[in-house]
Amino acid sequence: MALCNLIYEGDARLIQINREETMNALSTALLRELSEALDAVRGDSRARCVILTGAGVRAFSAGADLKERRSMNEDEVRQAVARIRAVVEAVADLPMPTIAAVRGAALGGGLELALACDLRVMAADATVGLTETRLAIIPGAGGTQRLSRLVGAARAKDLIFTGRRISGREAGELGLAQYVAAADDVLAKALALAQMIADGGPIAVRQAKLAIDQGVEVALKEGLLIEQTAYESVIGTSDRMEGLTAFAEKRKPEYKGR
Ligand code: COA
Repeated sequence: MALCNLIYEGDARLIQINREETMNALSTALLRELSEALDAVRGDSRARCVILTGAGVRAFSAGADLKERRSMNEDEVRQAVARIRAVVEAVADLPMPTIAAVRGAALGGGLELALACDLRVMAADATVGLTETRLAIIPGAGGTQRLSRLVGAARAKDLIFTGRRISGREAGELGLAQYVAAADDVLAKALALAQMIADGGPIAVRQAKLAIDQGVEVALKEGLLIEQTAYESVIGTSDRMEGLTAFAEKRKPEYKGR
């Protein structure tokens, strides 16, 4: 059975990590398939939004495959961490919005994957944490950087130093999850968000993502220039005219991504 499924849901693409019996732990083989799925959606101009989720209700992903890790020498560990890092970066670099739909456990590298998404929808009873220090390692796939940028350095230090596991509800209170829902409703909520995103102008949404992602890393004045450049690339689109025409005609716009 495939370790990673790519499912078409209208304009959204659902990437489902599918290794339920090991809590969707990120084995070498799984990372390879996940990487292929990410390559496929990156080149898919019709994909308006990507939802990352885990098969079953018990886990989004329990992170690195700790059984596989046990038999590795130091060099192999380096390579294994680099493989997780590369996949997490591939998620972060997708040009369209990404949503992590989290039920059950999202721990270590599993949470790092969710942190690389633009938005997180979590089950209230999800269990999430960057637990690495409890294994005498540190988050190695962006966790120290993305968590602190998302919730602030002090909160990230609390969570990473203690390695404590928090609920989806607490993650929502910290701003780590943007939406908190009952476990059964998590996927529906993510799909509804994806639909709202797909209703917008595709080029506009991608340019907005680019402007935000590049802008948060630089001084405000430079960020404003990035925004200006991003705006420039929507001015000449026929979708912009369609938006104005649809408004005048009191109908829903039909954007084509042009
Ligand atoms: N790597 C490999 N296998 C894992 C795993 C991981 N990261 N996480 C869970 N599994 C396996 C368990 O070993 C178990 O397999 P087994 O039945 O062959 O023993 C199976 O998945 C089910 O896990 P189990 O612990 O029995 O389920 P649970 O519901 O009691 O707990 C977790 C689920 C995810 C909370 C718990 O397994 C856990 O804490 N895992 C470690 C997560 C972690 O520390 N990740 C950070 C890595 S840096």
